[in-house]
Amino acid sequence: MSSPLVVGIAGGTASGKTTVARKVREALADCRVAFIDQDSYYRDLKDMPLVDRREVNFDHPDAFDTELLVEHLRTLKQGKPIQKPVYDFVTSSRQPHTHRVDPGDIILIEGILVLHMKEVRDEMDVKIYVDADDDLRILRRLTRDIKDRGRDFDHVVGQYLRHVRPMHMGFVEPSKHHADIIIPHGGNNDIAIGMLVGALRARLAAPHLAR
Ligand code: C5P
Repeated sequence: MSSPLVVGIAGGTASGKTTVARKVREALADCRVAFIDQDSYYRDLKDMPLVDRREVNFDHPDAFDTELLVEHLRTLKQGKPIQKPVYDFVTSSRQPHTHRVDPGDIILIEGILVLHMKEVRDEMDVKIYVDADDDLRILRRLTRDIKDRGRDFDHVVGQYLRHVRPMHMGFVEPSKHHADIIIPHGGNNDIAIGMLVGALRARLAAPHLAR
């Protein structure tokens, strides 16, 4: 049996990475697809006072438990299930329970820094970068963080200027150079997503091409 095809999907915050990953999964509903998101691997800050957690730079590579992420990726590649952490953005901590992810013929790994991190990148067969204009990304992020992540306007703007934007320019955007494919217009680009799905199917059908 050949090893699974590992597909990395990177891109800035609120660029549409999750939407691209979801549409790929839906289009490959007849295949076994294992999905892991880098967001689930944020370090657990439960021992830090809540007020200090708000000041943490969550856009720096050190904010992630990359050792666990790579371990889980390798476990899935060996055809074994993992127990993925469940992260709570409101409290910046891990939930007590985990989420079982079964191995698949395709492993999708999505997150802002998955192409930046060499140890994660080295596990990938196909590398995607999802691009979207900065103004659209910050508007989406504002809406999402206030609605879903327990933040207010001032916090989102302050965090964006202090951490999100500089880390995006320093780490996320440059990681685009590692991509095999750049998808413009985020998750709305159904033509590019369709082409990606076609290419993944072709690679699955011809494993010698795949890895
Ligand atoms: O889903 P998305 O890719 O946007 O998630 C990454 C973003 O989540 C980062 O830009 C980071 O600033 C933010 N984050 C946060 N609070 C946390 C963990 C991550 O605002 N506790």
